[in-house]
Amino acid sequence: MSTRVFVTGASGWIGSALIPELISAGHKVTALARSDASAAALTKAGALVHRGDLDDLDALRSAAQASDGVIHLAFNVGLALSGDFQGAVDADLRAVGALGEALTGSGRPLVMASVTLVLEPGRVGTEADAPSPEPAVGLRVRSAPEQAALSFASRGVRSSAVRLPTTVYGDGDHGFLAAQIAIARARGVSGFIGDGSNRWPAVHRLDAAHAFLLALENAPAGSRLHAVADEGVPTRAIAEVIGRHLELPVLSVPAGDATEHFGPLAPFLAVDNPASSALTRDLLGWQPTRPGLIDDLGEGHYFASRPAPAAQREGLHGGTS
Ligand SMILES: NC(=O)c1ccc[n+]([C@@H]2O[C@H](COP(=O)([O-])OP(=O)(O)OC[C@H]3O[C@@H](n4cnc5c(N)ncnc54)[C@H](OP(=O)(O)O)[C@@H]3O)[C@@H](O)[C@H]2O)c1
Repeated sequence: MSTRVFVTGASGWIGSALIPELISAGHKVTALARSDASAAALTKAGALVHRGDLDDLDALRSAAQASDGVIHLAFNVGLALSGDFQGAVDADLRAVGALGEALTGSGRPLVMASVTLVLEPGRVGTEADAPSPEPAVGLRVRSAPEQAALSFASRGVRSSAVRLPTTVYGDGDHGFLAAQIAIARARGVSGFIGDGSNRWPAVHRLDAAHAFLLALENAPAGSRLHAVADEGVPTRAIAEVIGRHLELPVLSVPAGDATEHFGPLAPFLAVDNPASSALTRDLLGWQPTRPGLIDDLGEGHYFASRPAPAAQREGLHGGTS
């Protein structure tokens, strides 16, 4: 069935994969754009543009009201990277509130991006798990927008939260993997922390985009979903592929030296965040089809020299867990 879908964050890493998914499934897309550059890219991708910032709650409400459903991916990475992570989460929370209010009583879908990093570390988390009060890397605050979105399920919104793994990878990646590769190049070693047995869940960007499409179309109200393809890849295995491609030694970095070695990436590289997606696969019929993280890294496209995007130049990540 063709619907009018309002998408925030459509110009981003995952959003730019989602637009063609939605259009080829027959949906009409209206996308939030806060700049001329994003508006031009979205128009070229075939979306209608709704100009506005995430903080412009009236713009969010009017676009959501005019839609048959909303996918909310935008997250203010710039604010988070400037040191105000709480401010970025607060903005996300206000945006989710405005979108949910606009859809209240309609039965329409509101699908939002959350993160597996809200789970309790050190054990395989599932969709049945509520956010941990003590998640890794201090991301407790990031659970608030997820909880807020799901609370609209009792107010006539078919809301769902798609938790994304630590790395959403693919050709053109400018997130954690790109940062890790840049650090390896700069340091002359490909490092991992401790024994490197801690695990990252992962998904290819195109498989993640497909999960959002399926959630929009079919997720029951109140669903927590995991767009996770690799349940848990040991960080040592990631460092080994990077070392092989860059022809660098692969070395353990003691936990006490991790911040000095890896900078702001250190707490993320230390996390043990395995996550299952068995319930999501059963519920939505989602089946990732792209290469797993280690195979994709092995294909080599991450190692081509290309200009670093702004977030990477700032030392971390466009991918904003
Ligand atoms: N990538 C990953 O590895 C990863 C992993 C886990 C979770 N996630 C989560 O998935 C979601 C999408 O991630 P992503 O990697 O696709 O993000 P991204 O590439 O950093 O893109 C962020 C998007 O949000 C938009 N945006 C940011 N601040 C805005 C504002 N103030 N007003 C309006 N739009 C704004 C950006 O618009 P502009 O184009 O104008 O900048 C862009 O479209 C985020 O919630 C992220 O935390 C990502």
